[in-house]
Amino acid sequence: MDKFIINGGKSLSGTIAIGGAKNASLALMPATILAGGTYHLYNTPQLRDINTMTTLLETMGMNISQQDQSLTIDTKNINSYEAPYEHVKKMRASIYVLGPLIARFGEAKVSLPGGCAWGPRPVNLHIEGIRKLGAEIEIEAGYIIAKAKRLKGARILFDVSSVGATGNVMMAAVLAKGTTIIENAAQEPEIVQLSEFLVKMGAKIDGIGTGRLEIEGVDEMHSTDITTISDRIETGTFLIAGAIAGKIGGKIRLEKCNPNHLGALIVKLQDIGAEIKTGDDWIELTPSEKIKAVNVTTAIYPGYPTDMQAQWIALMSLAEGTSIVTDTVYFDRFTHVPELNRLGANITVKENIATVIGIKKLIGAKVMSTDLRASASLILAGLVAEGTTEVLRVYHIDRGYESVEKKLQALGANISREQGEEF
Ligand code: EPU
Repeated sequence: MDKFIINGGKSLSGTIAIGGAKNASLALMPATILAGGTYHLYNTPQLRDINTMTTLLETMGMNISQQDQSLTIDTKNINSYEAPYEHVKKMRASIYVLGPLIARFGEAKVSLPGGCAWGPRPVNLHIEGIRKLGAEIEIEAGYIIAKAKRLKGARILFDVSSVGATGNVMMAAVLAKGTTIIENAAQEPEIVQLSEFLVKMGAKIDGIGTGRLEIEGVDEMHSTDITTISDRIETGTFLIAGAIAGKIGGKIRLEKCNPNHLGALIVKLQDIGAEIKTGDDWIELTPSEKIKAVNVTTAIYPGYPTDMQAQWIALMSLAEGTSIVTDTVYFDRFTHVPELNRLGANITVKENIATVIGIKKLIGAKVMSTDLRASASLILAGLVAEGTTEVLRVYHIDRGYESVEKKLQALGANISREQGEEF
């Protein structure tokens, strides 16, 4: 297993380009199940999660090739409607195949994802939503078995706004007979892009980008092409890399990104004292010498993203004063905290609230990645820690950050990938 060796304290500045959004690609790829044909998905990042989705879709008979950032998908020969446990256990987003399979083929067998690294992550809303569209769904031996002749439009209210459930139910509803209304739909940019992709494929969807989606089912859809939006979480993580550099930092410029998708983070970064300039597809951040302590509470979009919570805690560990970081989306997502404390941070967690008492400096140590965003926070801390930080199990980071060490090197960081010890 690879590890990162980071010699902290190197000044960060320069320009890098942001890649395509992992969580948009993971929705766009299964959406292609809905109509036979050839699709081109441009700006698809090269990531482990994309490879996992590719392997899963190939087991169903799809033909997929990736040339740099262009993914070509041929869905003409789908011959299996099953997502086996061996793939779903690696990546929960595999459940996205449920909606399109049941919509187009009237049957699907999808393994239940089970828990994740930081606790339970239910899929009840996916199942209830697709049941409301008329599918018969049983849970048997760890699998969701769904059957339907043709789905029928229905009114669906999500008690909790869910990215995955909105995407899945929307993909099921586009081929249903009649109209589906989804209330309290997710409004994340990745869901907006999925909606736009479905419309390009021939779906009829009103209210895109709002909490109320109205979908008029169509009889048939067709293949198309799309350019994936930029990854707002990758963008945000690099902004925090610039901000955490504090007085050893210079200006960093991120290109091929969308500042409009990062409103909440940009405000918080300005609150800590960083200077931010934005253009249509770029952001520049100049850090302040001192990092002010600023509280954050995660929320659904356009609130502060849960996927940026771990990185904010790393930043706040070096702030002047005490900050409170509350995660209202995932109550248990704090596995990075004990690892950050190994670097000298002073963080305590009670229920879903972290209290971060800012300290003067972090000191390098060996730390362990536990999940994707936790790993990102450890790398950020390592960039400014005194001495050497080893981040073990970086396969987590390879799930969602394309060439992270190369991009950090381009900004001046001293980070390298090495073969790590086995566990
Ligand atoms: N929820 C339910 N029941 C469900 C589904 C969700 O109660 O059936 C709850 C969850 O427990 C959570 C809330 O609803 O409290 C929101 O979860 P959501 O369904 O929106 O999350 P997701 O679709 O499983 C996506 C991203 C995550 C990101 C969340 C929240 C993808 C592939 N994943 O997950 O990304 O944290 O939205 O924004 O889009 C990551 O990239 O590191 C990552 C974990």
